[in-house]
Amino acid sequence: MANPSDSPRDPEQVGSLPDLYDAIAPHALQALWSVSLLYPEPRTDVRPWIWKWNVVRPWLLRAGELIDTTQAERRALLYANPGMPDRYATTQTLVSACQLVLPGEVARSHRHSAAALRFIMEGEGGYTVVNGEKASMQVGDFITTPNWTWHDHGNEGSAPMFWLDGLDIPLVRSLDAVFFEPYTSRRQEVVEGVGSSTHKFGMGVAPTYLKHQDPSTPLINYRYAQVRDVLGELAKSPLGDPSDDVIVEYVNPVTGGHVLPTIAAYAQLLRPGFDGQPHRHTTSAVYLVVEGEGYSIINGQRFDWSKNDVIAMPMWAWHSHHNPSGSEAVLLSYTDVPVFESLGLLRREATTAGELGWNQSVPAQESRAPARESALV
Ligand SMILES: [Fe+2]
Ligand SMILES: [Fe+2]
Repeated sequence: MANPSDSPRDPEQVGSLPDLYDAIAPHALQALWSVSLLYPEPRTDVRPWIWKWNVVRPWLLRAGELIDTTQAERRALLYANPGMPDRYATTQTLVSACQLVLPGEVARSHRHSAAALRFIMEGEGGYTVVNGEKASMQVGDFITTPNWTWHDHGNEGSAPMFWLDGLDIPLVRSLDAVFFEPYTSRRQEVVEGVGSSTHKFGMGVAPTYLKHQDPSTPLINYRYAQVRDVLGELAKSPLGDPSDDVIVEYVNPVTGGHVLPTIAAYAQLLRPGFDGQPHRHTTSAVYLVVEGEGYSIINGQRFDWSKNDVIAMPMWAWHSHHNPSGSEAVLLSYTDVPVFESLGLLRREATTAGELGWNQSVPAQESRAPARESALV
């Protein structure tokens, strides 16, 4: 940037506004009236998008033949939103990636100021170690990696492990608050067995001599089998959310609040025949389909989904979920709700399909990103 001393111009000699704009620039000044910072509603570059599992899986497996976990810090394909391909982001605050760990491999231990989570997609025998506690992975499990916790992953099974990584990196980057540190060895020592944090804090009782001070949940693994039972039981009642049907939030058992300071996570069951009410909110989300088939309409576009597809939901986009099948469908999702809540920016509203002019003939989504904007990086 130019130094003010480079600009000897005298204000009295500047005769027009364009001239003034040029003359003040070297002084690190801008005319506030010449820029648009405020507008009636949010604007976002995030596009609604779906990544189909039958596309992602073979590319990631091929990557597994071309690079191993000693060369890649994490062997994962980023779900790069085509609306902002240079941001390494899935929504404006969240990023997702599909990670592959092959039998016998270890993804080395590290920690970072971004918070992370996993939704397990395929395989068995995988595990994560978080600050010395080992968490086994089963399909549908939700695993937390709070910020600045040491974590490494491995696969003790005989088949590839795939899971969805979810992080708040775009948010943390926008705050210029990125810290990262590799561990001193590839693996950290396991000092707590599988289920240790659940036994301490997740059973409705807690040791009186242990205090969990961190704002993030103490639980490392929320088992899908348990959550699925809960959803199934709740689904027997006629009650449900008009937009999300039978939806539960993963909670921090110490605070009763969100699992992480920046991320909330949910599981929802859409009963057969469910037609959700369109709504929108200032928060964005990433969805993983765990069971069943259905579709979502986002800003008038229809996105058909099935197992292990991943969907980016932009903030302030009208959307509705539908399950026209005869079987239950289950979606896992994570959002930036805690950020918007704590900043006083959370807004929600609902409407009807008729008000939006949506009907049965909504256009299908584009099947591929534009050439410049490959969904896989
Ligand atoms: Fe990590
Ligand atoms: Fe929603």
